[in-house]
Amino acid sequence: MPTLAVYPGSFDPLTNGHVDIISRGARLFDRIIVAILVNAEKAPLFSMAERVEIARAVFKELPNVEVDTFEGLLVDYVERRNAQVIVRGLRAVSDFEFEFQMALMNRRLNGQIETVFMMPAEQYSYISSRLIKEVFSLGGRVHGLVPDMVEERLRGKVGRP
Ligand SMILES: Nc1ncnc2c1ncn2[C@@H]1O[C@H](COP(=O)(O)OP(=O)(O)OP(=O)(O)O)[C@@H](O)[C@H]1O
Ligand SMILES: [Mg+2]
Repeated sequence: MPTLAVYPGSFDPLTNGHVDIISRGARLFDRIIVAILVNAEKAPLFSMAERVEIARAVFKELPNVEVDTFEGLLVDYVERRNAQVIVRGLRAVSDFEFEFQMALMNRRLNGQIETVFMMPAEQYSYISSRLIKEVFSLGGRVHGLVPDMVEERLRGKVGRP
């Protein structure tokens, strides 16, 4: 049976940390679904349509990466998609506690689904969408930390040259 994995998140916006984890997942699993969570934040910087468009554009050369959206319980979505694995990225000890709770809760909700953690390349291990938005809006350089397309879009939104 092919192994189908779901990588859930808000991806507001997609960073090179996410891209690293998705690329690793695409090598490990038959298919990886980037599942963008609807309504994770009340006022996202990037609309749902933009987040989907960006992820599809970045992974257009990788046929086993799919981009989708979901609402509600993650395990219900994973089951509906007939997937067996949830992929999560681990940056630092700070991620561990929350991820540990979520993985065990998800296992309790559906014992058939396994959560798999992956670590990004060191140079991406400190990046988060929140930090990218904050640094960019204050005039800092984010080149190399996000896909070029995200950098361009950030310029358009935050109104910097
Ligand atoms: N740089 C990174 N390296 C590895 N994993 C990451 C990285 N950034 C995010 N992740 C993981 O990607 C998944 C989706 O996370 P999420 O959408 O919250 O991204 P985020 O960058 O943490 O955004 P935010 O700052 O809005 O929380 C989570 O498992 C998270 O731990
Ligand atoms: Mg996060």
